[in-house]
Amino acid sequence: MTTKYAETEQKTGVKYVGQPIDRLDGRAKTTGEARFAAEHRYPGLAHAALVHATIARGRIVGVDTEAARAVPGVIEVLTHENAPAMKPPPSVSLLNPSSLATGTSVNYLATDQVHWNGQPVAVTVAETPEAARHAARLVRLTYEELPAVVDFASEEPNAVPQKSSALQSAAATKGDAEAALAAAAVSVDLHFSTPPYNHNAIEPHATTAVWDGDRLTVHEGTQSIAWLRKHLALRFGVPEQGIRVLSPYVGGAFGGKSMVWAGTLLAVLAARATARPVRLALTREGVYHTVGGRTPSTQRVALGADEDGRMTALIHTSVARTGRTGGGPEQITAASGHLYDAQNIRLRQSLVQLDLLANTYMRAPGESIGTFALESAVDELAFDLGMDPIELRMRNEPERNPLDGKRFAHRMLREAYAEGAERFGWRERDPRPGSMRDGQWLVGMGVATAYHPAWQMPADVTVRLGADGGVVVRCAMQEMGMGAATVQAQIAADEMGVPLESVRVEYGDSELPDAPGAGGSMQTASVAASLVDATRKLKQAVHALARRSPGSPLRGLRPADLEARDGGLYQGGTGETYAEILTRAGRDHLEASGGTGMIRFLAKTLRDRRRWVKAASGAQFCEVRVNQDTGEVRVSRWLGVFDVGRVINAKTAAGQLRGGIVMGIGMALSEETLIDHRTGRIVNPSLAEYHVPVHADIPRIDVHYLDDPDPTMPLGLIGVGEVSITGVAAAVANAVRHATGRRILDLPITLDKLL
Ligand code: MOS
Repeated sequence: MTTKYAETEQKTGVKYVGQPIDRLDGRAKTTGEARFAAEHRYPGLAHAALVHATIARGRIVGVDTEAARAVPGVIEVLTHENAPAMKPPPSVSLLNPSSLATGTSVNYLATDQVHWNGQPVAVTVAETPEAARHAARLVRLTYEELPAVVDFASEEPNAVPQKSSALQSAAATKGDAEAALAAAAVSVDLHFSTPPYNHNAIEPHATTAVWDGDRLTVHEGTQSIAWLRKHLALRFGVPEQGIRVLSPYVGGAFGGKSMVWAGTLLAVLAARATARPVRLALTREGVYHTVGGRTPSTQRVALGADEDGRMTALIHTSVARTGRTGGGPEQITAASGHLYDAQNIRLRQSLVQLDLLANTYMRAPGESIGTFALESAVDELAFDLGMDPIELRMRNEPERNPLDGKRFAHRMLREAYAEGAERFGWRERDPRPGSMRDGQWLVGMGVATAYHPAWQMPADVTVRLGADGGVVVRCAMQEMGMGAATVQAQIAADEMGVPLESVRVEYGDSELPDAPGAGGSMQTASVAASLVDATRKLKQAVHALARRSPGSPLRGLRPADLEARDGGLYQGGTGETYAEILTRAGRDHLEASGGTGMIRFLAKTLRDRRRWVKAASGAQFCEVRVNQDTGEVRVSRWLGVFDVGRVINAKTAAGQLRGGIVMGIGMALSEETLIDHRTGRIVNPSLAEYHVPVHADIPRIDVHYLDDPDPTMPLGLIGVGEVSITGVAAAVANAVRHATGRRILDLPITLDKLL
């Protein structure tokens, strides 16, 4: 795919941006050289394990650690009776960065209160992980139990309206949508439900914590080095500068490693209490009990249209849940304010609080499940109108943001659908449900729209140019395996005009300049903006240095006329290499920093938000085969066409987009966290019983992108991390509807629902 990018390439000599470059960390990971958080050895390293509460709500009244302490190799057993105190978690406020990482408001081991079934209530520390885990099973706790409210389905009718915040609008209204719905020529009014989901990164959360006096080193795979460090400084009452967070490798995260959860805090606490380096690697089950997952939801989507399919009413309401000790709303109805040019719109989000672990970020929180409901309802409306679902979407494709008339910074849904329909062979679809077959398999084709907002945060980046012409990019960003560092290397190589092999990117270390967290699909754009700023300043500094030497051919040239290429600065045939310039000046390196201060950044963000709606979007195309006898659903083909602005790396971007689609197929067909509605216990906290898709469940996934730069984003790029999971569950449900005539409103679409 080449569109405008090809033109840019000729003008600026762009060489690496856009290419399918292999990940720079790929070799270390595939050869096993990469050390993850639980793979660091220290002399005297001890191992910790968690004890989880077995009631949903109440108080610990008895602690018996005798049997646990008797296990050979056990060093310490910490409970609320003997653990050193941490400072209580701060309440979440935008003005306090350390609070943004607060996973729950529980001050672990400082309280006898139990707030969810699975809450960590004790920690064992031993010479081996086996001894620690064995001892954890032998800790005897007795409880005074209190009534707990854990069943979302029965509490959902008591939901209260969510308040809007600076970051999230919980309600929006245009016109009178209920009246328009009642008066509409054609309408649908559907109620959906989605279950809770949990993160299942390949690398379960792990921490290795090492104290040296008041100095602390923490190895942990985290999405937010800066938040983690600030949060630990606050909880342990030590200076932030004395804490080093090392996170060069993160084995997947999906939002589950953004906040600070019990495992991290208790590893650090155990290390302090025992004066030993401590490693705490959560079990898979431990992740489910200590790291929040995605909220379940109920949703109503009602759509009204005239005979021609022009939408007159769009209503989307949702109920979600948080824990009583943490969690937050997810923007379930947000995309519905941007996708269709309906004359009347009503969006509302409500919440219930339950005695369960807090929810947290999980890939496209809100939009992923919100687009399931919205895009299923749009498909149903198309059936009722007897209209092609793509045609219905195109008739309602807005020129401006439907809610407030703001302009879209970039919007190519028409192009995405046109290209997708062509490539997928949409024309071959017989619109009659149940009309397409392959032996005993009913074949269905469905589409849905993907949508995720584009964000950016301030970042600090330093670029260092050595006298050998080598370039080092330094930024404490997070690499979770998506190619984050590789794409910055490509950008740096192009901006400096040096071979990719000459660029090294240092990341994953709190000693480096601050980056935002890897979340909200915003890391790459945020870091790229500061990187480009730093390289610009660096080239100016090189030029200034050259101009001071009488022998330099750059003396009479203006910076604006210079091109960075071939390892130096040139105008036409005149110029010289960085190595020549630095060596002549007797400098062994030059360095420059890029970034925006918070105030300037906020001013620009607010200005931008008044003017534009920024987002990534796409068209998802799905083909399913549904077994007519067993109801089994197999996804047989997938194609996604995405508008994600400029693509920096064709290979890693495609990997991200495919990964989101795989996760969405899991959401649609098999994943579901089952919570015992009497006890609040998660009953399937393992990969054996929580079914993520396996290779055999996933067909070839075709991804394409329109590769047209967004003029309002750094380098024209829009994040690719989250948009690809949105719309996926709806595309599956719509294909199932086409195959079988059955509209499934409750995820996951398991075979029992089709019989
Ligand atoms: Mo994410 S859910 O943006 O880590």
